[in-house]
Amino acid sequence: MNHLIAPSILAADFANMQRDVEMMNNSRADWMHFDVMDGMFVPNISFGFPVLKAVKKYALKPIDVHLMIVDPDRYLKAFAEEGAYSITVHYEACPHLHRTVQAIKELGCKASVAINPHTPALLLKDIIAQLDMVLVMSVNPGFGAQKFIPHSYTKIAEVRELAKNVNPGLLIEVDGGVDDTNAAQLLAAGANVLVAGNSVFSAPNPAAAITALKQVTY
Ligand code: DX5
Ligand code: ZN
Repeated sequence: MNHLIAPSILAADFANMQRDVEMMNNSRADWMHFDVMDGMFVPNISFGFPVLKAVKKYALKPIDVHLMIVDPDRYLKAFAEEGAYSITVHYEACPHLHRTVQAIKELGCKASVAINPHTPALLLKDIIAQLDMVLVMSVNPGFGAQKFIPHSYTKIAEVRELAKNVNPGLLIEVDGGVDDTNAAQLLAAGANVLVAGNSVFSAPNPAAAITALKQVTY
């Protein structure tokens, strides 16, 4: 499968959101990654429903919602109603993960689970068959433009191995510090969705940076 590129709106210029969303519309981006932070699960607050509504008004590509919030079950329905394509919840935030994953699917969204850098891939063993996607955090969640953690390559390979027999079509998304220096190795390890914030939006030509990530071969 060809890999997907999901530029992270967290790194966009919020005062020029329409411009940046239209840039993504006209680029080779596949999805738009939407990071929701609550100041509890992670030490930062980003944005929520009003911003999603504004983005949706212009977005022509699926919105990939990444919930970095405690007790995400409270908001799944609202994100689905606002037009989320996929919803990612954190393993670390969900004591009844199986129930949460079922709820996301019943709402008609793709169900995805994120694991923080300290969380072993093996903990996904009994849920991986139910998932559309696993998101491997390659930084500690909460902020854009952090340094990529190299152990993520191993983590991605472990997730791919776990999924091999029970869910061969699983998408593996990697999020944090992704750029043209690590993309090929991430894809080779088994990732097939690259989230990129800073490396896209701080590039002189963001659409060209997206094309470059889309054209990475391995
Ligand atoms: C981090 C977020 C990421 C972030 C990635 O907590 O989940 O999606 O936007 O940004 P970069 O690519 O700048 O590390
Ligand atoms: Zn994210």
